[in-house]
Amino acid sequence: MNIKIAPSILAADFANMGETVKKLEQCGADLIHCDVMDGNFVPPITFGAQMVKQIRPFTLLPLDCHLMTLHPQTHVEDFVKAGADVISVHVEACGKNTVPLLREIKQYNVKASAVINPETDAEQIFDCVEEADMLLVMSVHPGWGGQKFIPETLAKLEKLRSFCVKNGRGDLDIEVDGGVTEENAGEIVAAGANVLVAGSTVFRAADMRATISRLRGE
Ligand code: DX5
Ligand code: ZN
Repeated sequence: MNIKIAPSILAADFANMGETVKKLEQCGADLIHCDVMDGNFVPPITFGAQMVKQIRPFTLLPLDCHLMTLHPQTHVEDFVKAGADVISVHVEACGKNTVPLLREIKQYNVKASAVINPETDAEQIFDCVEEADMLLVMSVHPGWGGQKFIPETLAKLEKLRSFCVKNGRGDLDIEVDGGVTEENAGEIVAAGANVLVAGSTVFRAADMRATISRLRGE
């Protein structure tokens, strides 16, 4: 599968976001991962649709919006209008409403993705596999960048990828978020992920382009 790298702007300079996303595009990123936190679903508050709208003119790359919010359904339309290309919603926030919300997101012609936290079993998103354009597996506890990758995520990825394959969705994008480094990217991909979010790894890099390319396994 095509490996895609989604740098998280959570690790970027918030005073200079437009130029940052431009640079990420020049350095070979595939998507821009936007971590939206509401201070409720997770303790910190980051930014909302306004930020997405303001960085939109600076890049042609898809804006991958990860909503760590308690009531994602109330914000979907704002993110669509702001120019989001992918919207990820947590099953821990949406419960039985996850699949209907994925359908709603897709009606806006935006890609819909379902996310699970580290303590949520893979089985909890099996019912999203048919409807989703992407699945997002958290490999750290959401809320902060710079944490260590939780190794149990690998088994979860294997389980999810094999469920997708068995159900005719072997080509479904599976994104991993948290603690991705140049050292562990290979085993994460081998376990079944093909979209890698990387915050600190990309923003701490001496050579952003080389790091993005190594994360992609090149
Ligand atoms: C955590 C966020 C991640 C985070 C990843 O809640 O969802 O996207 O920015 O950061 P790193 O790559 O530093 O673990
Ligand atoms: Zn994220």
